[in-house]
Amino acid sequence: MLKGQQTRLAGKLVVISGAARGVGRATALACAAEGADLVLLDVCTDLPGVPYALGTAGQLEHTGTLCRDRGASVLTAEADVRDSAAVRDAVASAIERYGRIDALVNNAGIAAPSGKPVHAITEDEWSLMLDVDLTGAWRLIREVATTMSAQRSGSIVNIASTAGLVGYRHFAGYVAAKHGLIGLTKAAALDYAPMRVRVNAVCPGNIRDTVEGEGRMLREIARALDVPADEHVATFTQSQPMNRLVEPEDVAGAVVFLASDDSTQVTGSVLTVDGGFTAH
Ligand SMILES: NC(=O)c1ccc[n+]([C@@H]2O[C@H](COP(=O)([O-])OP(=O)(O)OC[C@H]3O[C@@H](n4cnc5c(N)ncnc54)[C@H](O)[C@@H]3O)[C@@H](O)[C@H]2O)c1
Repeated sequence: MLKGQQTRLAGKLVVISGAARGVGRATALACAAEGADLVLLDVCTDLPGVPYALGTAGQLEHTGTLCRDRGASVLTAEADVRDSAAVRDAVASAIERYGRIDALVNNAGIAAPSGKPVHAITEDEWSLMLDVDLTGAWRLIREVATTMSAQRSGSIVNIASTAGLVGYRHFAGYVAAKHGLIGLTKAAALDYAPMRVRVNAVCPGNIRDTVEGEGRMLREIARALDVPADEHVATFTQSQPMNRLVEPEDVAGAVVFLASDDSTQVTGSVLTVDGGFTAH
């Protein structure tokens, strides 16, 4: 840990999926700044059926370097959350190296294939969306649950979306997956409460794609809706009570709170980070 650093996660080991860029990178940096050590996962390759580039090995390593600069010990692993064996191996490496897992952040996600009404979605498109955005989180929870239960402590944070609370036109697969993730959050919270393992969801609104975070989901959502990104941002900002996009760091702050001992009685909750969008 570096001198003068915050210490809300000191001594804790945090596993983050989708950590190559965007919200995953911002969350990793925030956790490192709070004293955590990190295991960072990402698919690090493009996926057939996802119509945009995903995170790269170089981006994942860059996140790791930035976290080490903040004093964290970091293990990076290339793992597709659709691949049970890869997920199992990554979690096993985390336990072998650090001997414990204090928090899991299920952040990996895709926004597309989207952009069409329900009847036009193919079986493959539907399955892909649910496999990454919902089942991927379940696979990681399955792998950490035994360790966390034995420790009688742990915090799982699922990055859902306002799309887990309300519908969005032409995003049925994403909306269904994120609603499912909130259901999984509540059910898992009940399963593991007796073992003092907490499970919560964070629901961000539209997040700004930052240069330093290299995120690109907002751009891809606009593309799926066939509108220019600037127009999408302007429309969304107008309908958002706080009148600005969510920053990746806003989401990271909520994750740090839920991963830390500041929230020891918080479980099964759904925390919106949406500038009031779903308060309408
Ligand atoms: N950007 C937004 O406006 C927004 C809003 C609400 C919720 N979210 C959610 O926040 C999370 C992060 O989104 P982001 O904006 O940083 O997006 P992003 O596309 O910039 O980053 C997502 C990361 O997840 C990784 N990933 C994708 N599929 C994977 C897989 N199968 N296995 C492992 N890693 C995989 C990607 O490689 C990428 O590095 C997602 O779950 C997303 O649904 C985003």
